[in-house]
Amino acid sequence: MSDLKIGLIGAGAIGRAHLAGAAGAEGVEIVGIADPNPAAQALAAEFSIPWFSGHRALLDKTRPDGAIVATPNALHVPISMELIAAGIAVLVEKPITDSVDDGLRLAQAAAQARVPLLVGHHRRHNPIIRAARSLVQDGQLGRLVCATVLATFLKPDAYFDETWRRTKAAGPVLINLIHEIDLLRFVCGEIACIQAVTSNSIRGFEVEDTAVTLVRFESGAVGTISLSDTVASPWSWDTASGENAAFPRNDVESHFLCGTDASVALPTLRMWRYPSERGWFHPLRDEMVRFETVNPYVEQMRHFGAVMRGEEPPVCDGFDATKTLRITAAVRQAAQLGSAVVFG
Ligand SMILES: NC(=O)c1ccc[n+]([C@@H]2O[C@H](COP(=O)([O-])OP(=O)(O)OC[C@H]3O[C@@H](n4cnc5c(N)ncnc54)[C@H](O)[C@@H]3O)[C@@H](O)[C@H]2O)c1
Repeated sequence: MSDLKIGLIGAGAIGRAHLAGAAGAEGVEIVGIADPNPAAQALAAEFSIPWFSGHRALLDKTRPDGAIVATPNALHVPISMELIAAGIAVLVEKPITDSVDDGLRLAQAAAQARVPLLVGHHRRHNPIIRAARSLVQDGQLGRLVCATVLATFLKPDAYFDETWRRTKAAGPVLINLIHEIDLLRFVCGEIACIQAVTSNSIRGFEVEDTAVTLVRFESGAVGTISLSDTVASPWSWDTASGENAAFPRNDVESHFLCGTDASVALPTLRMWRYPSERGWFHPLRDEMVRFETVNPYVEQMRHFGAVMRGEEPPVCDGFDATKTLRITAAVRQAAQLGSAVVFG
């Protein structure tokens, strides 16, 4: 099997993770980096990969089979559209784009052209999250009743030196909550309805610093997501899972799934159930669910290769990612309205 040729468009923070992912995945090779930033040029030199200041030169010179679009959000759709028109498979970072209409436009263009489109909701490739999904889908928790998610962390003050990060173009709902919404959809099933409250009372910026979202799943299960980027707290997936080496790891749990027969916490996959008699007067027993350690960025890149070869359907296609975007965008709407937003 010869390696599929992949171009990397945008080599900032997440672009580097893709570079490392591709280095660990069989069957794919990064053949060029397109990014006007001098830091990206230096990165390309470090890895001995040809560098281009823009994506068109990369496409002309390297003729890749696929490309990763890891640029700022506003460029996701225009660049991905060009790739699709040229018949080049796309792995575009999350969010698929900033607007639901544009997300659907991109998803439809890929479907019509029959060009593979994968969206980089990388947590779906994490074996811990996959194991949790299996526990729910196989009924090992009994009937899922409620999910509790803590996404509580502290962004340093310097993060907000850039003006746009204090505006509604940024904020933890758009930047961070989208991962939790996608995780809940992937693990627990489709979301039917949300309610939310938001607050900016600590930082006092235009954008929220804190949000609590209530979720009702189509299955009838319910959930809460507590999100804040202004608290001295260890409870979040990013700092508990060890997925991203940039964050020191906290030995805590951040996600809790409770069912009629058993409950499990993530990322530990510590599962609790009654060994014999049930009820709060009897002791629960815990066990650790086993899982294989796999780097989700490596697995995502392996999967992208398999999608390009037609061996696997995309784990997250454009339509799926647009659903996650629609629900995430509705959180601010629900908070503003003070009422539920129902998804048809
Ligand atoms: N999956 C995740 O967990 C995750 C994490 C972080 C960011 N992201 C997403 O990845 C994308 C990039 O985020 P980031 O944090 O890496 O940003 P970043 O600012 O670190 O990197 C973006 C890079 O794109 C480059 N760029 C800008 N215009 C370009 C163009 N026309 N052609 C080629 N390159 C161009 C910039 O020079 C920069 O190097 C965003 O959509 C973000 O939401 C996803």
